[in-house]
Amino acid sequence: MDIGNLTIKGRLFLAPLAGISNRPFRLLARRYGAALCYTEMASADAIFMKQEKTIRMIDITPDEHPIGVQLFGSKPEYMVTAVKKVAEYEPDLIDLNLGCPVKKVVKKNGGAAILKDLKLAEELMAAAVENSTIPVTIKMRTGWDAKSDVFLEVGKLAEKLGVAAITLHPRSRSQNYGDSPDWSKITRLKEEVGIPVIGNGDVKSPEDAKRMFVETGCDAIMIGRAAMKDPTIFSRINHYLDRGRYLPDLTDEEKIILALEHSKMMIDRFGEKNGSKMMRKHLSWYSKGFQGGAHLRRQLKTVNSLGDIKALFDDYLSGNFSSDHAS
Ligand SMILES: Cc1cc2nc3c(=O)[nH]c(=O)nc-3n(C[C@H](O)[C@H](O)[C@H](O)COP(=O)(O)O)c2cc1C
Repeated sequence: MDIGNLTIKGRLFLAPLAGISNRPFRLLARRYGAALCYTEMASADAIFMKQEKTIRMIDITPDEHPIGVQLFGSKPEYMVTAVKKVAEYEPDLIDLNLGCPVKKVVKKNGGAAILKDLKLAEELMAAAVENSTIPVTIKMRTGWDAKSDVFLEVGKLAEKLGVAAITLHPRSRSQNYGDSPDWSKITRLKEEVGIPVIGNGDVKSPEDAKRMFVETGCDAIMIGRAAMKDPTIFSRINHYLDRGRYLPDLTDEEKIILALEHSKMMIDRFGEKNGSKMMRKHLSWYSKGFQGGAHLRRQLKTVNSLGDIKALFDDYLSGNFSSDHAS
């Protein structure tokens, strides 16, 4: 599919995930078949203020194209600076966040709060599009709450302003992650705009992905939580979509090999202590469902080094934790 002048060879994308879609995780998702990955959202205000911590989040390597950098913010003039700064890192597209429900973001009128102020939405999108040499996309929810379904209006406005693609997570801000996402709204958006529509929301299995493509006609699917718990999901969905058959699940040993590789990548990137701490949640996800794994998972929440992680998995594989019940 094409997003502006960018051709993407595949239809499954890794969602922007704060605290998760850092470089090591993106590289894994790409290896398992994500055709386009997004950075964690970065604050346009922080980039405008030259905050190093935020700028360091835009750490793109040559082996991870195509990649989208996601920005959030509510000040068009800051967005202009941020878009220009981000371009120096040579991403393939810039995505604007019009959907984040998190209090810290909406309090400053960013994320989903922009859906309450369409003039601001227009100004932000125009500021980004007019100052970017690469495609600008948006990612949005349906509106602030059930009474304000503005996604069609925003979608049409986006297309008019030159936005190159739209991701829709069809829940309102007030629904947060409750209720099921209403995929028929993705269908509606697809009917109304001529630019690519990326469907998002509760795709957790190969069947879900197939159903979303069939029901909505979306051009691509973006996967968030299911990928964060298992980055290999892209290969399983691609296999099913291409051949109609299921790939076998990873064995516990294969999951451990992947968890160790992921840990090494995180430690290389973020340092031994930080990287290990950041891995704790992933280690818990990788080991979910392990026979007798409850004790292992408790221990994995305390790791501070690669040595700790290896020792715990070695112990598990040698049967030292086997007194636990299956979990
Ligand atoms: C931990 C976490 C972090 C997220 N961070 C972002 C983000 O930085 N930018 C964004 O647009 N959405 C973010 N989201 C929302 C996801 O990108 C996605 O839209 C949402 O989870 C629905 O997709 P899913 O059902 O596949 O998870 C985040 C979601 C989670 C669970």
